[in-house]
Amino acid sequence: MLAGIQEILIISTQQDLDSYEHLLGNGADCGLKLSYAVQEKPNGLAEAFLIGESFIGMDNVCLILGDNVFHGTNFRGVLQRAAALEHGALVFGYPVPNPQDFGVVEFDQNYNVCSIEEKPSAPKSRYAVPGLYFYDNSVVSIAKSVRPSDRGELEITSINNTYLQRGELRVELLGRGMTWLDTGTYDGLLEAANYVSIIQRRQGLYISCIEEIAYRMGYISREQLMVLAQRSLKTEYGRYLRDVASSSIYWMIRTQFGS
Ligand code: G1P
Repeated sequence: MLAGIQEILIISTQQDLDSYEHLLGNGADCGLKLSYAVQEKPNGLAEAFLIGESFIGMDNVCLILGDNVFHGTNFRGVLQRAAALEHGALVFGYPVPNPQDFGVVEFDQNYNVCSIEEKPSAPKSRYAVPGLYFYDNSVVSIAKSVRPSDRGELEITSINNTYLQRGELRVELLGRGMTWLDTGTYDGLLEAANYVSIIQRRQGLYISCIEEIAYRMGYISREQLMVLAQRSLKTEYGRYLRDVASSSIYWMIRTQFGS
């Protein structure tokens, strides 16, 4: 949403999609157009572009993994620059102590990217590739040519390497002020919950509150936000939305959104 993207396809198992659809509906409340598609088997991330081919149409596309959490100052600016990509691919690099658990970027002496390896046993750098990818439309045809890896998956890393071989891959390194969390393990999920709790309690600002983002981004009006708040005023969440809508925290708009 912060990238300026309002048309979103959510891909998951049938069982989980039912829950997401129940929770989010068609997204109109937040000025979004949500659609849903099933991935029958865990065939790998690159399959998203085959499942989503008609959704993507002739457009460029961004893929974000549902278990990845991003948070940091001016992340909106990073996303909007990335979404302005016209040609090629843009992915990110983020330093971690356990790169072997991720796709890993290899650099030469001049910090040019020479390869991306999927979960290498001997990583050539500390830079993991987070689950947030921006591609031009040729990603669909590239995805069709990807063959399953040794672990039987259509790897997103294969797509990134194709762009790299074409000289069309940009890797932007995220600074240490950015937080990237992967909630794909029990410990990771707990760490993310603790992180969100600490920041929200300290700042009194919610992380990834979609109704607030919809309002700040101009996808919905103040009146529409107030209607959403009214639905749940008995909860802290509803009262937060009300406070955002009533501008009692106007200074936050200035600091977060620069307006
Ligand atoms: C996937 C990608 C990997 C990437 C990671 C980010 O790994 O294959 O390249 O670094 O997401 O979370 P997986 O979650 O399939 O283990």
